[in-house]
Amino acid sequence: MAKITVIGTGYVGSVSGACLADFGNHVICVDTNEEKIKSFKKCIVPIFEPGLDTVIRRNINDGRLSFTTDLSLAVKESNIIFIAVGTPPMDDGSADLVFVEEAARQIGKLINKYTVIVNKSTVPVGTGKKVQNWINEELQKRNKKIEFDVVSNPEFLREGTAVYDFTHPDRVVIGCESAQARDIMKDVYRPLYLNETPFIETNLESAEMIKYASNAFLAVKITFINEIANLCEKTGADIRDVAKAVGKDGRIGSKFLHPGPGYGGSCFPKDTRAIVKIAKENDETLNIVETTIETNEKQKLRAAKKIEKILGSLSGKTIAVLGLAFKQNTDDMRESPSITICEYLDLNGAKLRVYDPAAMTEAKWRLLNVIKPIYFAKDEYDCAKNADALVIATPWNQFRNLDLAKIKENLASLNFIDLRNIYKPKEVTSAGLNYFGIG
Ligand code: UDX
Repeated sequence: MAKITVIGTGYVGSVSGACLADFGNHVICVDTNEEKIKSFKKCIVPIFEPGLDTVIRRNINDGRLSFTTDLSLAVKESNIIFIAVGTPPMDDGSADLVFVEEAARQIGKLINKYTVIVNKSTVPVGTGKKVQNWINEELQKRNKKIEFDVVSNPEFLREGTAVYDFTHPDRVVIGCESAQARDIMKDVYRPLYLNETPFIETNLESAEMIKYASNAFLAVKITFINEIANLCEKTGADIRDVAKAVGKDGRIGSKFLHPGPGYGGSCFPKDTRAIVKIAKENDETLNIVETTIETNEKQKLRAAKKIEKILGSLSGKTIAVLGLAFKQNTDDMRESPSITICEYLDLNGAKLRVYDPAAMTEAKWRLLNVIKPIYFAKDEYDCAKNADALVIATPWNQFRNLDLAKIKENLASLNFIDLRNIYKPKEVTSAGLNYFGIG
């Protein structure tokens, strides 16, 4: 049985730690934040991630998972250490590695036997080698010769479905130079290995690149279909049929072809900017990714302008916005298109009523002092009250089945703007509302 320490109990660390314990490993999750650790110990998960609390509780009860602030104790108990600390973006788009360096140096100060150090955080190509150097520097200071290997094992978790994604991955990427470390990693992921999940064994740099290339490609794919949707809108083509037929081509695939108000979240915006930066540092240009970043910003604004166009003018109008999180099943509003939309509507004289099933707390600190007046509604119907338009900005399941008669009763003007194409136009128009979708 592998004995694992996970450093960092943020999004990636907590999901990885809990799921690795579920695979039968013995896992200790470490964080410097005492409040967070106290909360995890009581199975109270400080992030919104469906199903995570159940996995944590099960594994704490079974004795495979524990939480501590004591890194030295955890390292003593482990032969594998996952680094899952944050890599926040700096002003120039590159990832800040201070927390990774701090973790690596701590490891160098503490290990006393052969250890596999696994990088789970999304880091620029070349960071694995830096981690090696930082650990070596600390070992030299201690005058110790201890064997260790560094592995890059990127995660591909989506917020809201992270537990499922960890336990049912399309592939597991293991980047390292050592056969011993590779075998240990296969053991860590044993249930997946036995399930015939594809394992990609490669070098450190390739593993690091795979993560950025995957996210950049998905961002390009979404942006591409958004542009095609915009063109459909002008030509009389229907993006629903177009995307469906295009996606049926096995070379293209149907996922991530849903048009909308632009992508948001903590990964795509950050990782696309970071890979552009990595390219620049290597005297290369990623034209397609650069254009995607720019086009996505335009798409967010285009969604806001679409509302303005439908209403003629925004001045004095009341707009009900359903959905503030950057996508469904999360309370995360980082780089959410809703923020751009709300800011534009506000700037152009509209009054806002907003509602989200999970992101109201985050919305209050993000929007309250920025947008005035703003009303935080109790539910979808309260949100729609006396509004001149109802805008669906996030495709939450509970917005897919609205009582359209009740929405109609509550609205002042019957404009139903579906920025995620979750309704069939006929369904909405037969309820007496004016339907506007994307494309
Ligand atoms: C993403 C990657 O999917 C995941 O592999 C990586 O590890 C982290 O980044 P996440 O940001 O949680 O995950 O969400 P995802 O479901 O990928 O959606 C990202 C954004 O794209 C959201 O704003 C979503 O609404 C948007 N999107 C997605 C579309 O507009 N259209 C689509 O077809 C799919």
